[in-house]
Amino acid sequence: MSDFAARVVAWQRAHGRRDLPWSGRDPYRVWLAEVMLQQTQVSTVIGYYTRFLSRFPDVRSLAAAALDEVLALWAGLGYYARAHNLHACACAIVAEHGGTFPRSAAELQRLPGIGRSTAAAIAAFCFNERAAILDGNVKRVLARHFGIEGFPGAGAVERELWRRAQALLPDAASMPAYTQGMMDLGATVCTRARPRCGACPLARTCVALRTGRVDELPAARPRREAPVRRVQMLVALHRDAVLVEKRPPSGIWGGLLALPQFDGVAALDAAAAALGAATPVRALPARRHAFTHFTLQFTPRVARIERLAHAAREPGACWLPLAQIDTAALPAPLRALLREVAAAHSGSTPSATRKRDTML
Ligand code: ADE
Repeated sequence: MSDFAARVVAWQRAHGRRDLPWSGRDPYRVWLAEVMLQQTQVSTVIGYYTRFLSRFPDVRSLAAAALDEVLALWAGLGYYARAHNLHACACAIVAEHGGTFPRSAAELQRLPGIGRSTAAAIAAFCFNERAAILDGNVKRVLARHFGIEGFPGAGAVERELWRRAQALLPDAASMPAYTQGMMDLGATVCTRARPRCGACPLARTCVALRTGRVDELPAARPRREAPVRRVQMLVALHRDAVLVEKRPPSGIWGGLLALPQFDGVAALDAAAAALGAATPVRALPARRHAFTHFTLQFTPRVARIERLAHAAREPGACWLPLAQIDTAALPAPLRALLREVAAAHSGSTPSATRKRDTML
């Protein structure tokens, strides 16, 4: 037996859970528990499990029941596809297997609602088959112990975890204790938050513990890429100042100064024309800034205004002297943009015209 498995088995016998109502070798009772425990905690399951078993003590009574009665007893456990599959599975066992559970993980896995890990649990507990389980708890134990990088739900990472899980299995006689031990370790010691590494039989060979990565492994599900919001921003330059407006207090850049923002180019062009821009507006390359829930892609469009149109007197907007870019309450990406614009502008503007901070 691998040293890993020997430690898990010895730990389970000394410290593992032994008072669970489904421990034993009856495949009906083990199957029912494993299906209930697929997405639900032990403490929630116990009451449902006991009621379910007293109403349906064996697979034949369950198969003979109306689906509605099964669903009524399941109500509150959630993930109701499990209850539909449970009933369908009982019917299949009666119709196709003479009311007796098949004895191998491979055959069990062909039944409704029984995936690879659940099939292995039933086969290991009831028939001592050397089949590996790999639920979320076990994935966490293995990812930490072996320092396996990547999200455990990702195909390649999951294949590696299955390979490890299978390679670690003990002899057939120890399979029930080993399988329960892996479940118990994940649920009570190698927990997601605040694991009790001091009580773990695997601590002395644990890669995550040795390298200080217990909190980082297993890796979280990768975030979905944030949606991109595309906007146009007007960089209106008049003399040595740029037009800015104060953002509303809530929302992105709340209360800061920002460039006038538009959804489309036509609206921006119209605003530039209203200010008195004579020359065509010139687009700069688009830039991106990541917020928590989306990425803002903004295209700066520069309009030089020689003579301000009368209509441009808009409350809330002001002309910010380019010399004040470093100290004004600007969001960092706009400050960076305006520094570049100012540098180009000072190279192209006679110094005599550089002056004045004009409020509109
Ligand atoms: N979670 C899934 N199967 C379990 C079992 N047999 N005992 C405790 N928790 C479990």
